[in-house]
Amino acid sequence: MSENPDYTESLVGVFGHPVAENPTCVMQQAAFDHLGLRWRYLTIEVLPGNLEAAMQGLRAMGMQGINLTIPYKVEVLRYLDDISPDARIMGAVNTVRREGDRLIGENTDGKGFIRSLREDANYAIDGRQIIVMGAGGAARAMTVELALAGAARILICNRSPARGEELVRLLNAETPAEAFFIPADEPLTIPKGTDVVINATSIGLYPDVTGIPPVNMASITDAHLVCDVIPNPPNTRFLQEAAARGARTLDGLGMLVYQGAIAFELWTGYPAPVDVMKAALEREFGV
Ligand SMILES: NC(=O)c1ccc[n+]([C@@H]2O[C@H](COP(=O)([O-])OP(=O)(O)OC[C@H]3O[C@@H](n4cnc5c(N)ncnc54)[C@H](OP(=O)(O)O)[C@@H]3O)[C@@H](O)[C@H]2O)c1
Repeated sequence: MSENPDYTESLVGVFGHPVAENPTCVMQQAAFDHLGLRWRYLTIEVLPGNLEAAMQGLRAMGMQGINLTIPYKVEVLRYLDDISPDARIMGAVNTVRREGDRLIGENTDGKGFIRSLREDANYAIDGRQIIVMGAGGAARAMTVELALAGAARILICNRSPARGEELVRLLNAETPAEAFFIPADEPLTIPKGTDVVINATSIGLYPDVTGIPPVNMASITDAHLVCDVIPNPPNTRFLQEAAARGARTLDGLGMLVYQGAIAFELWTGYPAPVDVMKAALEREFGV
């Protein structure tokens, strides 16, 4: 036995319900192990009504932070000491980090997408017109970050008009971008002047792999960058059909990896081993 053994580990993880199929532990643990860090990522089922107690437990156990997934990204705001400006605009937190005794809320989903745009697609956002299918949590996080990063115009097309119009109001009120709502009454024809088309709905997620968002694919051209949030399978039918029309494409696996990489960096202070994290997820998804 060594002279002064220390068997403790720094703890992070995810609170959610249901959470059993959340694959984040695979990429975070691979990153900790790769760098030889004594950190552990725990996947924790928190039943409805128990989030406050779980957050107290996190404080009591000195955990370094936590990810939040469905249905806790909004409720967690009440149990935090501070919230980053972008997460405050979104009204949602997916990552909590510790600063001494204080718990700070962040949202890395949209930032992960922006980093994937820059690093995987080498794409500059400044001045672009972007159309987003969907107005749920992913769309909200992505559009707020795109608007704060310099996108000029954001068009939101969503099945439920109320949710879409609410996101448009939020973007116009809280960010420098211009935002408009497009009703989803018929398949969306991509308007002139559009640079980027994003599927931010859950259509195409495993096991519904043949699903495709309601877009008039004939209006997609080689002038567009077409992106999908769906990480599993990454090469969705939407991206396959867009590529067949000559568009550049960007899959949702990059966004998933980078949102995790940003959380890793917020927690540990070390640059994330992005390639290791991506390879771990690809193995998990059988890509
Ligand atoms: N790659 C990543 O890192 C990452 C990160 C976060 C989320 N995601 C993925 O993004 C997807 C959306 O997540 P979320 O948190 O935004 O979910 P959410 O809040 O439940 O929103 C779902 C969105 O999809 C739309 N939608 C769902 N089914 C539809 C259908 N059949 N026809 C038309 N629209 C439909 C909804 O429209 P209504 O408003 O009309 O219901 C809403 O806009 C999920 O598949 C998730 O896995 C990926």
